[in-house]
Amino acid sequence: MDAPVVAVLSLKGGVGKTTVTLGLASAARNERRRVLIVDLDPQANATAGLNVADVGYTTSDVLYDGRSGVGLDAITATGWGELVDVIPAERALEHRAVPSGADPVRRLQRALNGVADRYDLILLDCPPSLGELTRNALFAATQAVVVTEPSYFAVQGAQQAVEAVTVAGREGNPRLSVVAIVPNRTRAALSEHRYRLEELRSVFGVKVTDAIPERTAIQQAQGAGVPIHDWKSAGARSAARAFDDLIGRVADVSARDLADELTTREGR
Ligand SMILES: Nc1ncnc2c1ncn2[C@@H]1O[C@H](COP(=O)(O)OP(=O)(O)OP(=O)(O)O)[C@@H](O)[C@H]1O
Ligand SMILES: [Mg+2]
Repeated sequence: MDAPVVAVLSLKGGVGKTTVTLGLASAARNERRRVLIVDLDPQANATAGLNVADVGYTTSDVLYDGRSGVGLDAITATGWGELVDVIPAERALEHRAVPSGADPVRRLQRALNGVADRYDLILLDCPPSLGELTRNALFAATQAVVVTEPSYFAVQGAQQAVEAVTVAGREGNPRLSVVAIVPNRTRAALSEHRYRLEELRSVFGVKVTDAIPERTAIQQAQGAGVPIHDWKSAGARSAARAFDDLIGRVADVSARDLADELTTREGR
């Protein structure tokens, strides 16, 4: 069976898309699953966090080329070992416009033809805007994970991302659904954070997952290019547990089953 293709998005910057992408990849690797990360952000933070030695063919080349299955040529090994590959990003992604022509938002989907059956999970790390890169991700994905932080803007930010998913669904990717809204960087001791989490749950119900805690170990592991599951500290272990819980949402259940389950529960 083809792997789920999960777009990790938020239209707001710096809320933790790359952190959630890397955390999910680390959790999947820990379960001995094969993972491919497609770095769609010109900042190339995911590529850096995966400790990639040699960047050759990149997401930019893949989108520019646009041929069916060309993504296979850009699959690159990472420092995380044999289970984790990347299609890396580079700064040029920002400046190199995706050629127009027929269906410009389907170039990534086309490029990934034949890729999904080689992996157990594909993660698309989106840039912080609803430009053509994120739109390409939303057409290639089978599931969307929306990342947010427990702030005053959380509900509004998540709503915009959910709306972008709905639009992609309407415009031609009806199998896409939001499987999780992930509050990141929370501190349980802060009443403001608890209040914002409640607010998110009151709007989005069961789609809101348990929060990913704020832990310095997350930044340390990213800086060292190491999976959070391999970083040895109490903070890393609590972060890793949060990603283990989260991966149950995206990789264990097929998107359709979970979407049905969520609709049933919300309908009650
Ligand atoms: N739970 C967390 N605990 C500690 N630090 C975190 C956590 N989540 C994210 N960070 C840190 O916050 C910064 C921004 O996170 P990240 O890069 O994942 O966000 P992003 O949404 O991908 O940003 P961008 O929009 O620029 O792509 C990074 O330095 C990251 O290490
Ligand atoms: Mg990022």
